[in-house]
Amino acid sequence: MANSLLGMAELTRPEIIHLLERTDYWAEHWPSPPQVLAHRTVANLFFEPSTRTRFSFEMAAKRMGAHVLNFSVSSSSTTKGESLYDTVKTLESMGFDAVVIRHKENNIVHDLASLVDVPLINAGTGTSEHPTQCLLDLYTMKQHFGEVKGLTVAIIGDITHSRVANSHLIALPKLGARVIVSGPRHLLPAEYRGPVEFMPVDEAVSEADVVMLLRLQLERYSDLALSIDAYHRDYGLSEERFKLLKPSAVIMHPGPVNRGVEIAGSLVECERSLINTQVQNGVLTRMAILEWVILGGR
Ligand code: CP
Repeated sequence: MANSLLGMAELTRPEIIHLLERTDYWAEHWPSPPQVLAHRTVANLFFEPSTRTRFSFEMAAKRMGAHVLNFSVSSSSTTKGESLYDTVKTLESMGFDAVVIRHKENNIVHDLASLVDVPLINAGTGTSEHPTQCLLDLYTMKQHFGEVKGLTVAIIGDITHSRVANSHLIALPKLGARVIVSGPRHLLPAEYRGPVEFMPVDEAVSEADVVMLLRLQLERYSDLALSIDAYHRDYGLSEERFKLLKPSAVIMHPGPVNRGVEIAGSLVECERSLINTQVQNGVLTRMAILEWVILGGR
């Protein structure tokens, strides 16, 4: 089987640590890294919208010397009924070195990985996993605090629909972090993929080293059961609630951000926010991931 990146569930602790260390390597060599992917070609297959993930994969690959081809769903043969398996098999036959996939189906990358030889990278699938976002978040925590072990991370918001949260619920305990979840009860799952503690939002915010807000995925609800203003007041990181943070605590958000909903607009770029640092680290982390899947790292 190819060296695919399917999810945080498949990565061992040493593999996660290796990827974080390689991210450090690429950070040290920014902005003129060695061209280790010269003559390699990466395909970006995004069946759902993306700004951060798609562009950072493209930038990462190009910085390492690779060619990148972006698949346009609307002008591809998938509109004529071609399956994703046949699409990926076609790219494999053409000689692509890696295929980056974002898709609405939870298990699609896992299912394909057992059928093809080209390495696949999960760039966010349904509500199940977003491992590359998780890795860049872990790198950002490690960069800021020195290590992830021992941190208390409060993940606040729509956890049921968040693939980012799901990846963190698996990965953070693997690295020795404590996970708190908080948010409206109807947006919290009945079962979690890792050990968590539930706390009311004020308590969660006061207790955390990292306050991770999640985007309220408004496109998924016909009836949210509470207004946007009520959500911000009761569960968002408002300017008032921000005062509860420990002096050393930081704010993270995977983006895209709904300003004034899960976080006050004034806090997005405040001194304690690592949101733009996360984006910056996204390119470096994806360099480490491309190196790992294409050149091998296990
Ligand atoms: N965090 C994240 O996945 O952002 P995009 O949807 O813009 O890629």
